[in-house]
Amino acid sequence: MAESMKGLKRTCRCGELSAANIGETVTVMGWVQKQRNKGGIIFVDLRDRAGILQVIFEESECGAENFAKAEKLRSEFVVAIVGRVVRREGAANENLATGEIEVRATQVRILSEAETPPFQIEENSKTKEELRLKYRYLDLRRPDIQRNLILRSKITTTIRSFMTDEGFLEIETPILNKSTPEGARDYLVPSRIHPGAFYALPQSPQLFKQLLMCSGYDRYFQIAKCFRDEDLRADRQPEFTQVDLEMSFVDVDDVIDVTERMVQRVCREAIGLDVELPLKRMTWTDAMNRFGSDKPDTRFGMELVNVSETVAGSGFGVFTSALENGGSVRGINVKGQAGMPRKRIDALVDFAKGCGAKGLAYLSVQPDGSYKSSFAKFMTQEQLDALVTAMGGEAGDLLLFAADRDKIVWNVLGALRCELAEELGLVDHNRYDFLWITEFPQLEWSEEEERYVAMHHPFTMPVDEDLAMLDTDPGKVRAKAYDIVLNGVELGGGSVRIFQNDVQEKMFEVLGFTKEQAYNRFGFLLNAFKYGVPPHAGLAIGLDRFVMLLTKAESIREVIAFPKVKDASCLMTGAPDVVDQAQLDELYLALKSVEK
Ligand code: AMO
Ligand code: AMP
Repeated sequence: MAESMKGLKRTCRCGELSAANIGETVTVMGWVQKQRNKGGIIFVDLRDRAGILQVIFEESECGAENFAKAEKLRSEFVVAIVGRVVRREGAANENLATGEIEVRATQVRILSEAETPPFQIEENSKTKEELRLKYRYLDLRRPDIQRNLILRSKITTTIRSFMTDEGFLEIETPILNKSTPEGARDYLVPSRIHPGAFYALPQSPQLFKQLLMCSGYDRYFQIAKCFRDEDLRADRQPEFTQVDLEMSFVDVDDVIDVTERMVQRVCREAIGLDVELPLKRMTWTDAMNRFGSDKPDTRFGMELVNVSETVAGSGFGVFTSALENGGSVRGINVKGQAGMPRKRIDALVDFAKGCGAKGLAYLSVQPDGSYKSSFAKFMTQEQLDALVTAMGGEAGDLLLFAADRDKIVWNVLGALRCELAEELGLVDHNRYDFLWITEFPQLEWSEEEERYVAMHHPFTMPVDEDLAMLDTDPGKVRAKAYDIVLNGVELGGGSVRIFQNDVQEKMFEVLGFTKEQAYNRFGFLLNAFKYGVPPHAGLAIGLDRFVMLLTKAESIREVIAFPKVKDASCLMTGAPDVVDQAQLDELYLALKSVEK
């Protein structure tokens, strides 16, 4: 039978005690990490969210009844212990914050017994993630996960206090919505009262925050839950959290300024990191040309080189035909890797193919200055020399080339440089490289849909001098959009918004919406614009990603209390699940048969 804590009151957490408390009588409560019975003396490691404390039971001090209870203690029992803090006998335990002291128990109560857990509650668990997530309530007891969530809480507190100091108002926006397009699939909620109609869960608070600007709230922020039905990855969850903000009467620089100061404050308070401001900025075009990515990892070099002109007149059909088709030939120089075994190079070719390449051409500069190459026979010595020179190639270097449409070449080499840098140990994992990517293209041509789609979203303002090109050359229009990138991860993004109805209508037209369709979906926004709308701009940071990078966690699942797995299910609750026929009937839903 479990005992009650009647008459006892916890005086402190286990991990909060130190040599300063020696001599005090304390009452601590927590989970038994480990019990060791050495005959006349019992050692108990007691754990709570603050840390682990060593407690000693000796019958002469605690009496027979308490000693008998201490003998029964097993891992994960929940207990209350009263005792006296003393200096630890023998050497201090440097692995424990409380390592200088121990508590000599005078009383123990067993508040709850525990079955043997399916895995041990310990730091750096080797337990498989599926098992951890099935028993997430146990997994969440582990000190490393607890540290992550404690840091996350600290970060949101810091953000709230920073934003409030800057004059932002925290305002909640609805979860049951009409669809907000952010480029992913919507999660839908059927309406009982409106048969056949559905709410969409917000992919972001985008339209509501713009409406709040129309309503004069000036500076809004929210730590907002967002929902996107998309393929999951290490840095993607179906529901995630944004630090979302919007400001009136501002332009690009104002949003960037507030955001980077917020990021600076968080880094300082969360992990003691000093971020130097202003952050670097790079245009989208430069980012693609130099790193093949709009979220470049700038902790290492190995930048892309465009060698299209150098190889233009050569006899290598792979290169020349790519150029004839409007594409490019670009390369990266993998310094000192000329000796890379053939097998490894083949693996790189496969990797490149996995990124959409048709192949990967290579050339290694041997120690004696001669070349080994997959395409040497198609080029003259002069052409090869010129190519090596263009690449800054020296004896010992391995040069890798991709030839295709720009988009594919960027994608392939951008991914290869990250893969190789990781493998060759070129990444300094103690560095935090922030940068802004600016001047994104407004539109992207979708082969699938055979129309332009918004690169950020349809409410993004074009760069002033490019506005006229919306009619003549929409693909060339640059947007007042910006992303903040940290160590090769897109941390957040935003834009200056269109606030003129005619520009917004034009944008919908370019995106292939008829006026009716546009008003049908976004009429409330377009109508709001008719009643006096301030110029406005904003951004959203992915909070989960930010916490993941600051804790150096391998996935955002490590910084979310109850995450979903790759197939968007929750292994602990079993969601999503089937529902009763009665519930379906109430919602006027009939299921098509599904193949399991
Ligand atoms: P965007 O779509 O770029 O912009 O999202 C902003 C940031 O949210 C994070 N994020 C995600 N994090 C985890 N899992 C996901 N599935 C996921 N999707 C996005 C990323 C991303 O940079 N309304 C605009 C912002 C604006 O214009 O103000 C928006 O949502 O870190
Ligand atoms: P092939 O003529 O197809 O045997 O290709 C000769 C070399 O060019 C091989 O090393 C291929 O991997 C490489 N290659 C093929 N297509 C491409 C491409 N699009 N870009 C770069 N290299 C390629």
